[in-house]
Amino acid sequence: MNRTIRQMLAAALIPAAALLFATTSAHAAGMTSKHAENGVACATCHKSSADGKGAAFAAPDASTCLGCHKQDAIVKATEKLNFEAVLVDPKTKKEKRHTALINPHDSYHFGRTENCFDCHREHQKSTNACAGCHDIGAWKMGAPR
Ligand code: HEC
Ligand code: HEC
Ligand code: HEC
Ligand code: HEC
Repeated sequence: MNRTIRQMLAAALIPAAALLFATTSAHAAGMTSKHAENGVACATCHKSSADGKGAAFAAPDASTCLGCHKQDAIVKATEKLNFEAVLVDPKTKKEKRHTALINPHDSYHFGRTENCFDCHREHQKSTNACAGCHDIGAWKMGAPR
């Protein structure tokens, strides 16, 4: 199941990303305040590509983000989003409980392996990839900063 969801998500994201880079890569991008205020340099996230073929302004890998944001810390910061789901079995009338793992940094589908860019953006409003398939309002979860 993990693989299927990942492929569906990737398929949904790729065309949007391709369009974004095609239409906006000529712009000098203003950073979101969180990094600008803290003096994070453009080159920290945008390293030149070895072949010089213009990958310099692609979204950085998760490893770049995780160089500054410790994974354990971000997992802990959003752990409170997980909740206890209760289902009453219609036949037996017995309650079934399990923890719904909606922590975006350690989730049911992806564990800790989801790319930051699925949700966090730097030069535009962030989104929340879970919202593509789930009602995240009911989860009391929104898009990150
Ligand atoms: C050079 C270090 C550095 C890198 C690389 C970096 N950040 Fe940050 N980030 C910071 C600092 C410093 C802050 C402000 C202090 C804080 O809130 O942790 C910050 C703030 C944030 C915040 C706001 C935190 C809050 O409390 O609301 C988010 C979200 C974030 N970064 C995500 C990312 C993502 C995603 C990436 C990769 C694309 C990334 N960062 C790369 C240093 C970095
Ligand atoms: C599925 C969407 C999603 C993905 C993928 C994701 N995040 Fe987040 N992130 C969120 C949401 C939602 C919040 C804000 C939760 C809240 O409102 O408290 C958040 C909050 C944060 C914060 C602030 C934590 C704090 O102290 O409050 C940081 C830093 C951060 N994310 C970094 C990252 C990094 C680095 C990655 C990649 C390794 C990543 N995120 C991947 C959705 C995501
Ligand atoms: C914390 C990491 C981070 C920093 C710092 C950063 N960027 Fe980006 N950049 C990204 C990500 C992620 C994307 C993918 C699109 C997005 O998230 O908005 C991107 C995309 C781009 C793009 C191509 C698409 C677009 O939105 O225009 C350009 C050009 C760009 N960045 C320029 C810059 C410049 C110039 C700076 C310094 C002022 C900078 N970036 C600083 C993460 C970063
Ligand atoms: C491409 C569509 C898709 C996306 C995107 C998606 N999900 Fe799901 N999710 C599903 C489907 C389909 C199921 C039911 C099948 C299964 O359990 O795998 C499901 C089931 C779940 C469950 C199990 C429900 C339970 O009873 O515990 C959780 C938790 C969950 N998703 C969390 C998330 C989170 C958190 C995100 C974002 C990081 C996310 N999903 C993104 C399609 C998606």
